[in-house]
Parts: sequence; C-alpha cells; structure tokens
Amino acid sequence: MAPQSVLRATLLVSFSVLLTVLLGFGLPALLNAAMRLAGLPETSVTECIVVLYAVFVLYVATPRIPRGLLEVKGKAVFITGCDSGFGHALAKHLHKLGFTVFAGCFLKDKGGEGAKELEDFHSDHMKVVQLDVCSDEQVNQAVEFIRSNLEERGLWAVVNNAGVSTFGEVEFTSMDTYKQMSEVNLWGTIRVTKAVLPLIRRAKGRVVNLASMYGRMGNAMRSPYCVTKYGVEAFSDCLRYEMKAWGVKVSVVEPGNFIAATGIFTRDIVAATAAKLWSEAPPDVKEDYGKAHFEHRVALMRSYCNSGQKDVTPVLDDITDALTSKRPYTRYNPSEPHWWIRVQVMTHLPGAISDFLYF
Ligand SMILES: NC(=O)c1ccc[n+]([C@@H]2O[C@H](COP(=O)([O-])OP(=O)(O)OC[C@H]3O[C@@H](n4cnc5c(N)ncnc54)[C@H](OP(=O)(O)O)[C@@H]3O)[C@@H](O)[C@H]2O)c1
Repeated sequence: MAPQSVLRATLLVSFSVLLTVLLGFGLPALLNAAMRLAGLPETSVTECIVVLYAVFVLYVATPRIPRGLLEVKGKAVFITGCDSGFGHALAKHLHKLGFTVFAGCFLKDKGGEGAKELEDFHSDHMKVVQLDVCSDEQVNQAVEFIRSNLEERGLWAVVNNAGVSTFGEVEFTSMDTYKQMSEVNLWGTIRVTKAVLPLIRRAKGRVVNLASMYGRMGNAMRSPYCVTKYGVEAFSDCLRYEMKAWGVKVSVVEPGNFIAATGIFTRDIVAATAAKLWSEAPPDVKEDYGKAHFEHRVALMRSYCNSGQKDVTPVLDDITDALTSKRPYTRYNPSEPHWWIRVQVMTHLPGAISDFLYF
C-alpha cells in the first residue's frame, strides 16, 4: 500500500513503454510467423492486431456485460459482520432491493449501534442475529434461527464479510496474532460456510466470500492479514469446484483500498497495534531492527488511515452482481486502477520483475 515514489512511478511508466514497444515490434513478427505457418496471407496481420487490441480494450474498459438477472423476491441472504463497514451497508442495500436479510452482528447482544440501526428497520425482511464467527455455538444458533425463519425457497446465499485486519513485520508478529486473524477471517469463513451449506445447496444458491487484493498478492507488513485472505481464496476455489455439480456458484470479492470508507484502519488502531508489536517483540528483534526503523514502518501504516476510496458502491455492486446475475463471475476486483494494475503485474509477471517494480 506504499504510495509510489517518483523513482518507482518512473520505473513503472518506463516498463509500460518498454512492453508497448516490444509488443509493437514483436507482435507483428509473431503474428506474421503464425500466418505463414497457417498458410494464410501475411496481410491479415494488421486485422489480427486490430482484433487483439479490440479484445483487450473490451476486456479492460467495457462495462460489465449483461448476463441476465434473477428475481430477488423471496430470496434470503445471510451476511456476517453487519455492525459496520461493507456488511452494514450491504444489509441495507440488499434489503432495499427486496431480499430478506439475515444480518449477523458481532455486537448485537451488547447493544451495538450498527445492530440497533438495522433492528430499527422493524421489517420482516431485516432480521438481526447475534454472531461471532469464531464461536461454533453462535454460528449454530444463527443457522437454527435462519432455518426456522426461512420461507419455502430456502437460503439463497451467504456473504462471508466479517473480518479483521492488522499489520506488522513477521519478526514482530506473535503466533497469537496470526491465530487470532485466522480465527476470524479464515476459520470464521469456513465455519459459517459449512454451517449454512446444506441450506444453500438445496436452494442451488450462492456463496460470496470477501477476500481482498491481499488475497492475490502479498505486501511487507501485511503477512498476518495476507495469509488469511490467501486462505479464503484457496477455500473458495476448492468449494467452487465441488459445488459445481450441485448448481451452487461461489464467488470471491477482492476489494482494493476502501479504508477511508469503512474505517477498518484508524489512527487509534494503528497506535494500539504499534504499541503491542513493540512491547511484545523479542529483545534481539528490537535491537536488530531498531526503534527508528519500526517508527518509520508505523508512520507508513498511519499514512494509510483515511486513504483509498470513500464510497463503498463498487463493492456493493459487485456483491449484488454475484448474488443476482445468472452467470456470476468467479472473482470481482472493485479497486482503484493503480491497485488493479499492481495485482495484474504481481500475479502475471515473473517475480523478478514485479519485485523489482514494487519492492
Ligand atoms: N476496507 C477495506 O479496505 C477492505 C479491503 C479489502 C477487503 N476488506 C474486507 O472486507 C470485509 C469487511 O471489512 P470492512 O472494511 O467493512 O471492515 P469493518 O468495518 O471493520 O467491518 C468488519 C465487520 O466484521 C465484524 N467482526 C469482527 N470480528 C468478528 C467476529 N469474530 N464475528 C463476527 N463479526 C466480526 C466487525 O465487528 P466490530 O466492528 O464490532 O468489530 C465489523 O462489523 C473484511 O473481510 C475485510 O477484510 C476490506
């Protein structure tokens, strides 16, 4: 999430120019050879280039191709983590669209504001349930509640949204922190999915899992979060293959940076996390890394508070598409262009190139 320095930005732009020049000269030569091999006239190379370019532009720039919409009426969706952020906004959005929403709230029993606001809808189609995704008991109780409140058509979907985030270099991060993050983001997603899958399988419904761009690429300081989101990606892929035979569609949503919109990272969270990291770090790690290095890293994390997109609409639109489209995508990437490009570079180019560009 580091803001690009001028040098790195220059390198990226130079790399793009180099790639364009290489493709500009290399692609015609390659296509000429392919034409010769296929016994076609080399004059069709220009047409080929135009077609390839058009396909690329279509892929990158065209709005989503309509793939048919399903009727919303009578469909119920279970969303986890509805106290705040994406989950809270999604509960309201889906309710407005006509879904019956089962909104899992972490702080319902403690009188949390987010849960209260949803309860104040006083609507038969907005049902708020207490839910800690780390608790087998609470998950089972929530599923029983859903089962007993479902209309005939069953549970159409689950949106595994509940999540927590943190930061810290590997040597500063305790095993407890890795475990706590996994408990919510990864085991929580798996626990909830397993519990509701029989209901969704019978409805030939949908599973939508909130991963992150950090489920596709790593970053310094983000290992405790990244490992959980990579896990969510792996779980979703495996489940998708298994569920194909049952007619259940599994999608992953990989948001970029929406910190400003949801407040998943605030200055208070950064300050508290930094204090914990430093106080728990082994003495030799503190000595070797030094306080100055540590403070510099923390300042970087602080600079991300209030960064990114302020409007959650792209995320809500993508989740809605995953729930209502006849042919939902496997992966959705609501993110700013520079993050989208970064994910493409890091997932498609050799590590030597992407490491050189970004680290
Ligand atoms: N915002 C971003 O930039 C961004 C980017 C990529 C991916 N994501 C992912 O999007 C999802 C939603 O994040 P957000 O940005 O909307 O953050 P958020 O506002 O903090 O929302 C996360 C929600 O999960 C709840 N939660 C935490 N622990 C829970 C538990 N054990 N059981 C049930 N609920 C629990 C939180 O409740 P409390 O508020 O009561 O703790 C909160 O309501 C997360 O999975 C996150 O990793 C976010």
